[in-house]
Amino acid sequence: MTLPLPFFEDLVEEKSRTNGNANKIDAQDRAFHNWYRFVLSFPPHLVRDYLDEFATKKNGVVLDPFCGTGTTLVESKLRGISSVGIEANSFAHFASKIKTNWEIDPDLLLNQSKEVAEIAISKLQKQGINDKVPFTGNIDSLCLRQLPEDENKLILTGSISPLPLHKIIVLLETLRAFESTRVYEHQLLALSNALVFKISNLHFGPEVGVGKPKSDIPVISIWLSDIKKMVDDLRLVADKVHANSVVELADARNLDEVLQQKSVDVVITSPPYPNEKDYTRITRLESVILGFINNKSDLRELKKGLLRSNTRNVYKGDDDDKWVEDNAEIQQIANTIETKRMELGKTSGFEKQYARVTKLYFGGMARHLASLRPALRPNAHLAYVVGDQASYLRVMIRTGKILGDIAKELGYDVVRTDLFRTRLATATREQLREEVVILRWKG
Ligand SMILES: C[S@@+](CC[C@H](N)C(=O)[O-])C[C@H]1O[C@@H](n2cnc3c(N)ncnc32)[C@H](O)[C@@H]1O
Repeated sequence: MTLPLPFFEDLVEEKSRTNGNANKIDAQDRAFHNWYRFVLSFPPHLVRDYLDEFATKKNGVVLDPFCGTGTTLVESKLRGISSVGIEANSFAHFASKIKTNWEIDPDLLLNQSKEVAEIAISKLQKQGINDKVPFTGNIDSLCLRQLPEDENKLILTGSISPLPLHKIIVLLETLRAFESTRVYEHQLLALSNALVFKISNLHFGPEVGVGKPKSDIPVISIWLSDIKKMVDDLRLVADKVHANSVVELADARNLDEVLQQKSVDVVITSPPYPNEKDYTRITRLESVILGFINNKSDLRELKKGLLRSNTRNVYKGDDDDKWVEDNAEIQQIANTIETKRMELGKTSGFEKQYARVTKLYFGGMARHLASLRPALRPNAHLAYVVGDQASYLRVMIRTGKILGDIAKELGYDVVRTDLFRTRLATATREQLREEVVILRWKG
């Protein structure tokens, strides 16, 4: 019951790939993907390459168990192929869900957003704020809205300047009066995209940081122009029958609880790497402003549902490491990290967890691959994008190789490993490999 979108595929003109542009999104790939796309995303062309290589059929089902902001799902949908996404970060889950919901009337989205914009603009005007003209008066004379203290503590200091934040809160409150309409969640996603990438002071490179403050910015117009991009994309696919996409807020280490048995033909995914990055920081501002996280305990719950890839999300009682206690290479790496830590006299709480988090990470991946098996159809093809790492006292972790070994132990065939690109490790000046581990499930 799906119609492929040949007009879209026609637009795709293959460019030569170099190491430098391997992870870049091509200009013609912006539709849908750019509704909100975080820094951790892999590029659509990578998904296309493996959908082709695995000869994915129109009636097949593609799974991304760490779907992030939905690159695999959007790319599958553009091809008319059904997909399932699993994501444990509530904001990323929301972004994927909305990016794959094309059953929206573009005219309704546009007209209702214009109405919301007018109301928000007039509310601001009553306070002496013209959204389009930079405010030059005394900001202290304005009664600016702020985040509650608990929420303010969760965001990076200086993430957003006071006046843009005020405008965002006014826009959000205006939108909430229209909460029951079908286009509401799309409007929220456009607000998140405008907020993070244009209105806030954040920059991503690839770590999230705070850059030069923007004291004022035309928030409502920026939001409306993001809405217009969505409207253009939705018009491209209006009146077509779309492939089904399902996105679950769930833990990829417990897939047997979520996925139907023998329902998946192809997996294309990129799990976190053991790299000491706190993945929840990347989506923190929008998660707080949209109310996905309201306090420290919400944040803790969110982190507990993630793979243990950094020492900021290791908890008492974590026991994924038992899945790899017989894996000599992982035990050896963990011992090397711990010995080096003691030699170097590194004694902070986080440093003391380096060896443990390495074991928890690979144990979590083993648990994921084990829980995935019942959902795979015989002869399923899988592609895992992972990067080598040396974040723990420069001890090299060959993530792709170790993942392949774990998969083999669990009954998968390791077909081969492709090089996706290399990245220079700042600490060691070594080139780290980012690889695609290709697996097959015979069934
Ligand atoms: C490298 S990103 C994936 C990016 C994705 N390929 C894209 O293009 O947007 C890894 C994702 O895995 C998610 N994640 C981490 N642990 C998870 C778990 N246990 N279950 C499900 N998702 C998880 C993270 O929140 C993050 O969004």
